[in-house]
Amino acid sequence: MRVAVFADIHSNLEALQSFIDHSATQSVDRYMCLGDVVGYGANPNQCVARLRLLPHGLFVLGNHDAAVLGVPVNMTQEARQAINWTRKRLSDESFYFLREMSDIIRWDDAVFCHSNPYKPRNWDYVSEKASISRSFARSKAKILFIGHTHVPVAITRKNFFCVYIRSPRHQSVVPVAASNRQIFNCGSVGQPRDGDPRGAYLVYDTNKWLVEFYRFEYDYGKAKEKIVTAGLPESLGRRLLSGL
Ligand SMILES: [Fe+2]
Repeated sequence: MRVAVFADIHSNLEALQSFIDHSATQSVDRYMCLGDVVGYGANPNQCVARLRLLPHGLFVLGNHDAAVLGVPVNMTQEARQAINWTRKRLSDESFYFLREMSDIIRWDDAVFCHSNPYKPRNWDYVSEKASISRSFARSKAKILFIGHTHVPVAITRKNFFCVYIRSPRHQSVVPVAASNRQIFNCGSVGQPRDGDPRGAYLVYDTNKWLVEFYRFEYDYGKAKEKIVTAGLPESLGRRLLSGL
């Protein structure tokens, strides 16, 4: 089975549609969304409607999704502005969709979550040694899939004291290790933050035991203009052009 793992769409319809088109060329059997469907961007309802049509889609809750649902979440002023904007415009249908998303999904040897597997609703970033060690220590899953940082990463645990971290590029292929445990961050569809404005996702091939990383172009200018026209903070549009 080939599973497209993706996250952090952030109401960016142009990026989401390009992701769907790109992943359709990769023989994907099912879709696993790791949260933050909404927040920042101008098309929350349209993104939810598009996601509902994905074949065999499973969805995990992100911190921005939770904030829109009324869960207390710490965030920047601009992010909070976008949450308030989104909440006023969210349809009942979209609201119910977000409300049904899981904190964590366990599937065979793998766990799928938005931020971290040990306390999904504290929204820790798994980006430095302490949170990486904690993720391995507090989860029994062999493979962990996460999002939240908006930066694609592949982490392999060599032993208790040592992890190997790599930053995958477009078409990087990382073998699933026979015995070592691993964390894969799929990056962000709609607001990348690694200096590359292209959207990011990965495909987990459970037959070949491979994880393939992909980047795709989309109409960054159009997504930015929509943010500005909607009256959302302009910086949220500008950052789409730089990927930072
Ligand atoms: Fe996010």
